[in-house]
Amino acid sequence: MQKRFIVALTGASGAIYAQRLLSKLADAGHKIDLVISEAGCVSFGAETGIHLSAARLDAEKLLPGRTENVTVHGPREIGATIASGSVRHDGMVIVPCSMGTLARVANGFADSLITRAADVTLKERRKLLLVTRELPLSLIHLRNMTLATEAGATVFHACPHFYNRPQTVEEVADTVVDRVLDHLGVDVQTARWKEAR
Ligand SMILES: Cc1cc2nc3c(=O)[nH]c(=O)nc-3n(C[C@H](O)[C@H](O)[C@H](O)COP(=O)(O)O)c2cc1C
Repeated sequence: MQKRFIVALTGASGAIYAQRLLSKLADAGHKIDLVISEAGCVSFGAETGIHLSAARLDAEKLLPGRTENVTVHGPREIGATIASGSVRHDGMVIVPCSMGTLARVANGFADSLITRAADVTLKERRKLLLVTRELPLSLIHLRNMTLATEAGATVFHACPHFYNRPQTVEEVADTVVDRVLDHLGVDVQTARWKEAR
């Protein structure tokens, strides 16, 4: 069954997580509402060499040839559909999620389309997954993670695992992305832990 997901990219390291997630959602035929922050464009460009405009996002640069189910929004378009709780969706993922965006979401600062959509997702009791990334974590970061969790979000701090012996960077990233997809209820072909012999 086709589902609808909001995917927001912010200015943390981990562009590959967003690329892999978008690719798997598109391959599965799901609808995607896509938005990126201005800082997200900077970090995404630094990590991939792909230069994006937040206000005029070209989804083709993220999902070449697979944008038929993608709707793009600018981070300042506060009148976009996803800013309203009346618009139904199956979950929102902020990937990667900066500590700045985490702080704004955790404390209800709905000052951009990304933070407003997250705020609305929480108030409507829909799934909000925050694929946070920073190292080390300050007490402020930890407190904001607690606040966000108490409000109903799931903090998915980007911690890859290695027990299935990933061989490529994509396989490492997928150890995080596939867990995110699992939480969204998207069927995913993934290596699962089998008891060691
Ligand atoms: C290359 C690069 C990597 C960054 N990595 C991180 C990171 O891993 N985590 C983080 O919280 N901020 C990181 N930042 C800083 C954020 O981009 C910055 O705090 C920004 O204001 C976040 O804005 P946003 O939350 O609106 O996207 C990085 C910045 C750059 C340029």
